[in-house]
Formats: sequence, structure tokens, C-alpha cells
Amino acid sequence: QNRLTFLGIESSCDDTAAAVVRHVPGGRAEILSSVVDGQTALHAPFGGVVPEIAARAHAERLDHCVEAALAGAGLTLADLDGVAVTAGPGLIGGVLSGVMCAKGIAAATGLPLVGVNHLAGHALTPRLTDGLEFPYLMLLVSGGHCQLLIARGAEDFTRLGGSIDDAPGEAFDKTAKLLGLRQPGGPEVEAEARQGDPRRFAFPRPLLDRPGCDMSFSGLKTAVLRARDGLIAAQGGLLRQDRADLCAGFQEAVAAVLAEKTRRALAVYSADAPVAPAFAVAGGVAANSRIREALETVCAGAGVRFLAPPLRLCTDNAAMIAWAGIERFRLGLRDGMDLAARPRWPL
Ligand code: KG4
Ligand code: ZN
Repeated sequence: QNRLTFLGIESSCDDTAAAVVRHVPGGRAEILSSVVDGQTALHAPFGGVVPEIAARAHAERLDHCVEAALAGAGLTLADLDGVAVTAGPGLIGGVLSGVMCAKGIAAATGLPLVGVNHLAGHALTPRLTDGLEFPYLMLLVSGGHCQLLIARGAEDFTRLGGSIDDAPGEAFDKTAKLLGLRQPGGPEVEAEARQGDPRRFAFPRPLLDRPGCDMSFSGLKTAVLRARDGLIAAQGGLLRQDRADLCAGFQEAVAAVLAEKTRRALAVYSADAPVAPAFAVAGGVAANSRIREALETVCAGAGVRFLAPPLRLCTDNAAMIAWAGIERFRLGLRDGMDLAARPRWPL
């Protein structure tokens, strides 16, 4: 098979992104360009992503992102072998904008069109960055995702469990809001936690008493709310140290839950005796050093290689979509002009 150069397009949440990725047989994949145009500032006044605003911004920005990605790679559409696009899951207006953009390019050029599952994009990233071989265990932890899955092939994932309510990043963001910290809350809570005592508040470890790999994080945020209100009632307000201790206790609970559920998932994964056992984490929450450390410890204990792709490839981007498109294309898969945008699409 010849080398393949794909354009990737991503617009399922609040990042408009385009990238060009090249695969050379027998060699490492190469990211020729990766453009991410974030919308954080647009949504900030509303305290969350507003679907209508996101869809409109994607529609306005996609063409520029694609042009910038091609220019960054020093290529034109004529140099490409295919166009990959996120076809779901996500906010439907944004996904539709991306799919329409990709169909337009495919129709104008005759290039093959490949629809990609956004979660598969995240889950296949360790193959793009490190050439990881199947099967490996993957933890996706972001503001919108939380799942443990075994990647056995580009089209073959086994989901072992995930959050039954909030994603961990969402819990970080809500906890930050409760404590008057800025958004996105993850980095703010982590900075506070560094000054705090994780043992002062005994926050719950939800679902650890139950078997399996499912998780829950919404009760944790409620526990922080209760502790906060208790302190305010008792002393009339929150001291600096109180806030730090609340953050440290919360972060420790999230880390403990993710570590224990990962330990269980590793046991299931290892039962198949993979030749080169590996675990990878992706998503914005993977930026958290305490959580990363807890996961690394679990992997070391199980004798499993630990991997965390660079953060810009862990969070939403189009290089992972271009790559997942190449993987699908190499399996002989491609889509037609009837490719649908899907708000829900489990792996
Ligand atoms: O992957 P991502 O950029 O976007 C999606 O949600 O798809 O993840 C963003 C999430 C936010 O909830 C943010 O608060 C969280 O990742 N996050 C963190 C940290 N940095 C970002 N959570 C905990 N600790 C961090 N250092
Ligand atoms: Zn994502």
C-alpha cells in the first residue's frame, strides 16, 4: 500500500479544527499540520457551551481552518488521498457543519470521504503518536467523556465501563464554580489542591463498593457543596486554606476512583495475555498531575506500560480524526454522500 495523506475535520464540540496527517507504510505517522480554533471565549459569558453559538462559529470558521491546515502542510487539495470528518457523537449543529464541509470537498475533488467516530479518534491517538499495537487499554477522561475501553482494532472496541453521570472534567468545572474559581475549573482546582490537605475532608469514593468499572462523579460535587455550606454556616465564610483543602480532598477522591477502576479494567485486559501490555490516557483531565501519578502507579503495579500522548493531541483536535480516517480507509472502509451526522454514537 502506498503512503496516505488525509485531511481531518473536527467540529463536534467547541473547537473548530483541521489537520493533515500522512502515513508512510512501515514508518511512523506524521502530523503535517494541526489547526485548532477554540471557542472558549465565545461561550465563557454563558458558563457552558451554547450549541447554537457553537454551530454558527463552526460554520464560519471551518473553511479558514481547512485552508490554514493545507497551507501549514504546504499542500493543496490535489495532494490529498482522502478527507476524514467527525460524524458524531457531539452537538449536532457543529457535527453537521463539519460533515457538510467534508462532503463539499469530496464532491469538488472526487476524494474518498471517511466518517469518523470522535471517540475512536481519541482512542486511536496512541497509535498516531507512539505507533502502539493493539490491543491496549484506554481511559478517556475529559469534560464530556469518561470511559475505559480495550482497543482491539480500528473498528473493534470493548467498553468496560464509564461514568453513569458527570464526566470527571465536568465535576472539576462544577466544583470550581462552587468555590468561586475560574473556568475551565480543572487547572484552577489542581492549583488550589497543591496548597491543600487531601485528608481533611473525607469525600465519598462513589461506586468503589460495587464490582465493575462504572463510575459516578455527581455525588462528589454535592459532597463538596455540603462541606462548603457547613463551613460557611459555622464560620461565616471560606478561608483560603478551606478552599485549598476542599480542592485537595475532591481531587484525591477523583484520582482514587479513576485509579481503582483502571486497576480493575487492567485485570480484565490482562486476562487476554497481550504480548506488550499498554495503557493510555487521553482527554483534558489527563493534564492533572495527581491523577496521572495515580494512574502511573496502578500501571507500574500491574507491569503495564503507561502512555499519555502530548496534551494538544489528548484534547479535541483534527489530527486524531485524520488518523482515524486513515485507519478506517486502510481497512477498506469509506463513506458516501449519505454519510449522516449523529448526535449519539456509542463505540
Ligand atoms: O478534552 P477537553 O479539552 O475537552 C472535552 O471536554 O472534550 O477537556 C476539558 C476538560 C475540562 O473539564 C477541564 O476542566 C478539564 O478537562 N481539565 C482538567 C485539567 N485541565 C483540564 N481537569 C483536572 N485537572 C486539570 N489540570
Ligand atoms: Zn473529545
